[in-house]
Amino acid sequence: MKPLIVANWKCNPKSLFEAKKLFDSVAKKKTKNLTAVICPPFVYLPELKKNSLKLGAQNVFFEEKGAYTGEISPLMLKSIGCSYVIIGHSERRKHLKETEEIIGKKVNLSLKLGLKTILCIADLKQLKNSLKRIKLNENLILAYEPVFAIGTGKACSLSQAKRMRMAIKKELPKDIPVLYGGSVDSQNAGKYIKEAGFQGLLVGSASLKANEFSKILGNIDKA
Ligand code: PGA
Repeated sequence: MKPLIVANWKCNPKSLFEAKKLFDSVAKKKTKNLTAVICPPFVYLPELKKNSLKLGAQNVFFEEKGAYTGEISPLMLKSIGCSYVIIGHSERRKHLKETEEIIGKKVNLSLKLGLKTILCIADLKQLKNSLKRIKLNENLILAYEPVFAIGTGKACSLSQAKRMRMAIKKELPKDIPVLYGGSVDSQNAGKYIKEAGFQGLLVGSASLKANEFSKILGNIDKA
C-alpha cells in the first residue's frame, strides 16, 4: 500500500472561501507515491473540487437514515464522493463523550457500507475494546494517536511510536494499516514512516498550512 496521508482540518477554517483556497493550494502539489486525503468539516465536503486529493469526513452517524436530527450518515457521505471517514478521535471521546459502544456502531456501519474507516485509538485498551465490537473488513485503517501528542507540538518519540505500532500489530487478526498521528510536521513526517514503520499519517495543525502540508506530501512522495 502507498503511504496514506490524511489531513484532519478539525473545526477549521472558518469560511468556505478559506477552505477552497487551502484545498486548491494543496492540490497543486503533485504526488505519485502516496494517497492524500483531506478531511474538512462536513459543510465544505461537497464544495471542494474533485481532483487527485481524496475526501474524508471527521465523523459519521451510526444509522443509514431516519429521524435523527442533525446527523450525517455514511450513505450521504458516499453520495457526495467522500470515501474516507475518521471515527473515535480523542477530541470527540473527550468533549462529546463518545463511548466505545457508539464508536463501535459507527465503525461497523461505515465498514459495511464501504467507507475507508480510520479508527483512532490512543492506547491498547481502546484497541482491545474496539476489536471486541467491530466486524473487521479490508476497509479498516487504524490511527495511533497518543493524547499527549495531539495539538501540543510534543510528538511521540520514534522509539515509543514504533513499540506501539508493533504492539498494535500483535493484537490485529489481519494485516490492517496503522497510521501515526500527533504533532506531525514536515521535519518528522518521513521518520514515522521510514523509521517507525507506520503506513501513513494523520495530520492536524500542520494540514492547515498549505506550505507545510505540501512539504509533508513532498517528503513522503520522495522517500
Ligand atoms: P495535530 O493533530 O497534528 O495537531 O497534533 C492530530 C490529530 O488530532 O489528528
